[in-house]
Amino acid sequence: MSGKLENEKNILRVLSGDTVSSPPVWLMRQAGRFLPEYRAIRKNVPSFLDLCYTPELAIEVTLQPIRRFGFDAAILFSDILVVPHGLGQDVWFVEGEGPKLTPIRRVSDIDALQPEALHETVSPVYETVRGLRQKLPPETTLIGFAGAPWTVATYMIEGGSSKDFFEVKKWAYADPVGFGRLIDVLVEATAAYLIEQVNAGAEVVQLFDSWAGVLPEDMFHRWVIEPTMDLVAKIRVVHPDIPIIGFPKGAGLNYRAYATKTGVTALGLDTSISGSWAAKLGLPVQGNLDPGYLLAGGDAMVKGARRVMDGFGNAPFIFNLGHGVNKDTPTEHVSELVAAVRSWSPGFGGA
Ligand code: CP3
Repeated sequence: MSGKLENEKNILRVLSGDTVSSPPVWLMRQAGRFLPEYRAIRKNVPSFLDLCYTPELAIEVTLQPIRRFGFDAAILFSDILVVPHGLGQDVWFVEGEGPKLTPIRRVSDIDALQPEALHETVSPVYETVRGLRQKLPPETTLIGFAGAPWTVATYMIEGGSSKDFFEVKKWAYADPVGFGRLIDVLVEATAAYLIEQVNAGAEVVQLFDSWAGVLPEDMFHRWVIEPTMDLVAKIRVVHPDIPIIGFPKGAGLNYRAYATKTGVTALGLDTSISGSWAAKLGLPVQGNLDPGYLLAGGDAMVKGARRVMDGFGNAPFIFNLGHGVNKDTPTEHVSELVAAVRSWSPGFGGA
C-alpha cells in the first residue's frame, strides 16, 4: 500500500485498509463553540452562514483545532445546510434554537428549488477548501463533507431540527414518488457539491446521516441505503479513488447492510456500536467515544478511550467520537484525550 506520497498520511493509509501503529485522530465538531478562539471570531459575524461563506474566516476556524491539538485531519468548516441554502431554500440560524428553514411540504415546493444556482451560492466553500490545502501542514488530511440526502431532507421538510420527524415520515411513507423527487434532487446536488470539494482539494469526504436511525428497516433501505448508493456511485464516476466515510448515526443492526451495499470506503460509528462487532463488517471504521467522556475528563475518559481502541484491536481504524464535541467541553480534556490516543498501541492498551 505504500509508494504514493499521499498514502503516507496515516488517515489515508487506514482508509486504504492498512493498520497503523498509532491510530490517527480527529473529532467531529472539533471546530466550534467549545474553543474560545472560535467564540471570539463568531461574536463578530452577524450570522452563522456568513461564517461558512467567508473563506478567510472559515479557513481560520478550520485551522484553530489543528494548531491547538495537532489532529491528523482538519474538517472543512461549513454546515450540512449550505446545500438546501444553495438550492434556494431560506435557511437561518437562531441563537440557542438551531437551524430554521422555510419548510418544503409539497411537490411544487421541490419544483421551485434551483439546482442550477447551487455552485454559485456555495462557491466560497470551494474557495475555503482551496485555501486550506495551501495552509494546512503537509501531514494533515483535509476532510470535506455533506449531509446525506435523508438527513438533509428531514431539515428541509420539518423546517429545522425535529424530535419526532412526523412531517418528513408522513410524506415519505404516504407519497414515496413525490418525496423521492426531493431525494433525487439532493442526490444530484450533493454529488455535484462533493465532486467540487474534491476538485478543490478535499482528500476524503464524509457523509453525515445524523438521522438515519429514526427509520424502520424497510424505509432505511429505501431512504438511506439507496440514495447513499447512488450518491457514492456518482462521486466515483469522477473521482474513483476518493475515500468516502459514511456515518449513518443510530443505524444499529442496519449498519451491516449499509456497509455491504452503499459502496462507502469506511464506516463512522455512533456510540451504540461495539468496535469488535463493527470491525467484522470488513471496512475501516471511525469512532466512537461517547462525547460525554470528554465532559467527564480524567481517568474515566482515558479508560473510555482505551476501551474503544482495544475494541477495534487490529482493525484499520480512525479514532473519533460517536457524535460531535459538546460546546461545554474543557479544552484540556481534548488535549488529554489526544495524548491518550497517541500513547496507545495494539495489544498494550488494556490497563
Ligand atoms: O468542526 C466540524 O465538525 C466542522 C463543521 C460542522 C458544523 N456542522 C459546524 C456548526 C459540521 C461537520 C456540521 C455538520 C452538521 N450540521 C450536522 C451533522 C452532524 C450532527 O451534528 O449530527 C448537522 C445535523 C448540522 C445542522 C446544524 N448546524 C445544527 C442542528 C446546528 C445547531 C446545533 C448547534 O450545535 O448549535 C448547526 C449549527 C452549527 N454548525 C454550529 C457549528 C459550529 C454552531 C453554530 C454557531 O456557532 O452559532
